[in-house]
Amino acid sequence: MEKGKKPVSKDIKHEYPIRGMDFVAAGEASSNIKHTLQLIGFAPAIIRRAAIAAYESEMNIVIHATEGTLKTTISPERIEIIAADTGPGIPDIELAMREGYSTAPDHIREMGFGAGMGLPNIKNVSDEFTLDSTFGKGTTLKVVIYNQ
Ligand SMILES: Nc1ncnc2c1ncn2[C@@H]1O[C@H](COP(=O)(O)OP(=O)(O)OP(=O)(O)O)[C@@H](O)[C@H]1O
Ligand SMILES: [Mg+2]
Repeated sequence: MEKGKKPVSKDIKHEYPIRGMDFVAAGEASSNIKHTLQLIGFAPAIIRRAAIAAYESEMNIVIHATEGTLKTTISPERIEIIAADTGPGIPDIELAMREGYSTAPDHIREMGFGAGMGLPNIKNVSDEFTLDSTFGKGTTLKVVIYNQ
């Protein structure tokens, strides 16, 4: 490399705003992410895992939070998804991680959500999974899927 020149990053970065309770736009971000991964040519099994992580984290912001973003960083080696929102936060992360645990109210369950399987499913498809939350402030979920 020439002296003084920075290496060019091959990472593809995208950011998608997510609004709480917006069921019209819900699923758009994760569908875009899936489409991007297909265009790049990742293997279907990798795309499937990333699509689950993206969709479930997007829906968790739509259903449980007020406002947030999905940020993706895609490189030939890995797919990183960071879902961050500004509240209300998760009071007990261990409890939230349990299969079947959900605080979704009846009108959300009637729409087919609230099985309490989103977070456990995201963890199952992830190579790296970090869930941070401050009750009253917000939640950040970071997921990495290795392309291997
Ligand atoms: N971004 C978030 N902000 C606040 N609370 C959250 C967030 N994500 C998850 N939770 C809490 O964690 C619980 C479990 O989440 P999980 O995704 O596993 O299940 P669910 O969203 O309730 O149902 P499902 O994902 O099966 O439709 C939720 O019911 C909610 O109480
Ligand atoms: Mg969920």
